Amino acid sequence: MTSEQIQTLLADMSLQEKIGQLIQLTGVFYAGEGMATGPMSEMGLTREQVDMAGSVLSSVGAARLKNIQKTYMEKQPHHIPLLFMADVINGFRTVFPIPLAQGCSFDPELSREMARVSAREAARTGLHATFSPMVDLVRDARWGRVMESTGEDPYLNGLFGSAMIRGYQGENVGEKDRIAACVKHFAGYGAPMGGREYNQVELSERTLRQDYMPSYRQGVEAGAELVMTSFNTLGRVPATANRELMQDILRGEWGFEGVLISDWAAIRELLAHGIAADRDEAAYLALRAGVDIDMMTDVYANHLERQIREGKIPMEWLDASVLRILNLKNKLGLFEHPCKDADEAYDGAADIEPAHRAFARKAAPETFVLLKNDGILPLPTAPTERVRNIAFVGPYVDEKRICGSWSLFYNMEENVTIQEALEQARTLTVPVSWAKGCQVLDYGQERDGFRDHVKNTCGREELEAMEAEAVRVAREADVVVMPMGEHHEYTGEGSARTEIGIPEHQMELFRRVYAVNPNIVVVSFSGRPLDLREVSRKARAVLQVWFPGTEGGHAIVDTLFGETEPGGRLSMSFPYNVGQVPVYYSELPTGRPHLDGAADGRCVSRYIDAPNKPLYVFGYGMGYTTFSYSPVTLSRGDMVMGKKAAEGSALTAAVTLTNTGSRPGTEVVQLYIRDMAGSVARPVRELKGFQRVTLGPGESRQVCFDITEEMLRFYRLDMSYGAEPGQFMAYIGSDSDTQNGASFSLRQE
Ligand code: NOJ
Repeated sequence: MTSEQIQTLLADMSLQEKIGQLIQLTGVFYAGEGMATGPMSEMGLTREQVDMAGSVLSSVGAARLKNIQKTYMEKQPHHIPLLFMADVINGFRTVFPIPLAQGCSFDPELSREMARVSAREAARTGLHATFSPMVDLVRDARWGRVMESTGEDPYLNGLFGSAMIRGYQGENVGEKDRIAACVKHFAGYGAPMGGREYNQVELSERTLRQDYMPSYRQGVEAGAELVMTSFNTLGRVPATANRELMQDILRGEWGFEGVLISDWAAIRELLAHGIAADRDEAAYLALRAGVDIDMMTDVYANHLERQIREGKIPMEWLDASVLRILNLKNKLGLFEHPCKDADEAYDGAADIEPAHRAFARKAAPETFVLLKNDGILPLPTAPTERVRNIAFVGPYVDEKRICGSWSLFYNMEENVTIQEALEQARTLTVPVSWAKGCQVLDYGQERDGFRDHVKNTCGREELEAMEAEAVRVAREADVVVMPMGEHHEYTGEGSARTEIGIPEHQMELFRRVYAVNPNIVVVSFSGRPLDLREVSRKARAVLQVWFPGTEGGHAIVDTLFGETEPGGRLSMSFPYNVGQVPVYYSELPTGRPHLDGAADGRCVSRYIDAPNKPLYVFGYGMGYTTFSYSPVTLSRGDMVMGKKAAEGSALTAAVTLTNTGSRPGTEVVQLYIRDMAGSVARPVRELKGFQRVTLGPGESRQVCFDITEEMLRFYRLDMSYGAEPGQFMAYIGSDSDTQNGASFSLRQE
């Protein structure tokens, strides 16, 4: 449709029809007359309101969605197509590693491709839009949703978020196999106080703008069609009613013209927040803030009409929202092709597309982070004198739930376990055995998930027998690989924890195995950085595999046996213990700095019972070879403000990287900058660039980074954004702790 036609349509719509466009309901409301009655009366909606609703979430299947589209378009006076959305987070039928793992790849193009594949699978099943990417900055490992973010760094998150948006939407969201992306959760959701889910967020305006806003803004600039509000308060105002955030910043400053959707029930929650006295006020506040779609409440449905008729809410607010929704539907081509790419053949497809599977297998090792290795990895594929046989002992040996809690649409049986991968590994001649030893969940433990209810149904005796068998298998082996970690339902939404270790019953198994065989390689599954002190002290190697997705088993076996190397570097620090949290690399210096180990007296900034540094710092991770760095050299010692790059406002920092090992390997070369003095305190390090460099054994290469004045900008004392003259350090190395640096200055001409 042309924009004139859209305007004409809008002008012709009744008030009820317009309000309908603002309502989003789950597929349950479309489950047939009888079945929808319960949910409708529970939510206080009428059949007519449901018939008029503009979008549906969490329902998939080409045949089903085609049917809903046809039925409900017929019911609507102007036959406006429904918009179908769902949480396609780290894959659809093919599941990729969780977003936090993807961040560790330091390869946004990899995530772009994952998003492209997910979009294709989702579009074929009838979806038009996803609630992804989540670009919330996360620094508190207690919060369950850190798994949905790409980590603790604003620069990295911005790159990943926009890469995912490009992957979902392509050049034109109306094209085949493309879906609209939704940047979430605006704003600051990743910083709940104490790490407790949905808790209040307190950020100074400077910190918000400096650290938390850039990734949302980049998402908007990358063209995301939607933005979702967050559940939290920010500065004591819930985001969903926060006019300053939504109108002044998102729409005003950043020029966002797309659709703003509330998070699930967030408009109604304005009452629980104590900011709206009743639903009328909640409707008023949310619409005033510019929230276009009300996800899963009756607030807009039942509390806008009268207020608009009485002139309490201007019709222009409503019209502006409806127009944005119609525009999105139009961009997706839904007026011409209401079912877009829905294809029943996909519903019935016997297996995942082979190319998608192959990509998932190749991509996952790029997200694995090798945290420790004394040389035991990679394992030999054929028996050697030292490694005559290998035991795999731990609850993740045959676990199919390896996709993370936000993977809602895969077929469980299509996931490859470690045991299956071992059974299929034709090139392995070293004898392998396996035993679970325990369940991922403890005795009797159970928990509700978004997909299903999980429970440890084993009896005590069965568990004891499992453990005894595991210890026996471990004793007889030369090396024990222990796949263990969090249950995926202990991460994700609603899964904040105050203890962030590997579950204690699994640690007991670990200790019993260690007592009979200390040659342990831990394969750690989790959705958050864990306190890995004990395993990293005792095990000979620790491989962090997060939740690796459909091809997890193959990817892990490929990596352990050296078919491929672990390519990930931490995108979120692994704390020494939970008491350090939040701990992140780009902290501000204090007036009384302390370096771990230094004898600098009592009154310095430190813990007396733990180091300041995390156990594993941001950017850290090993491959199977080693690299050396030459000292950093700079093309010039100073930069001049306000000039063009060629005239001296930029310089180049370089190192020579050498593969000093005996295998080819890939290094993530990282550039950090420190501003030595500014009008406000500046972080001790900020990531400003990185390159993945692959070198053969003995090979060297010069790796260069351009440093521009733009990279030195920040929110200055008066909140203007720009650089300040002074001294800087440029560090280039393999993690955020690198001391390999050189100094330069920025000066006024
Ligand atoms: C609530 C979550 O916070 C959000 O991320 C998700 O997209 C919606 N539910 C829809 O499922």
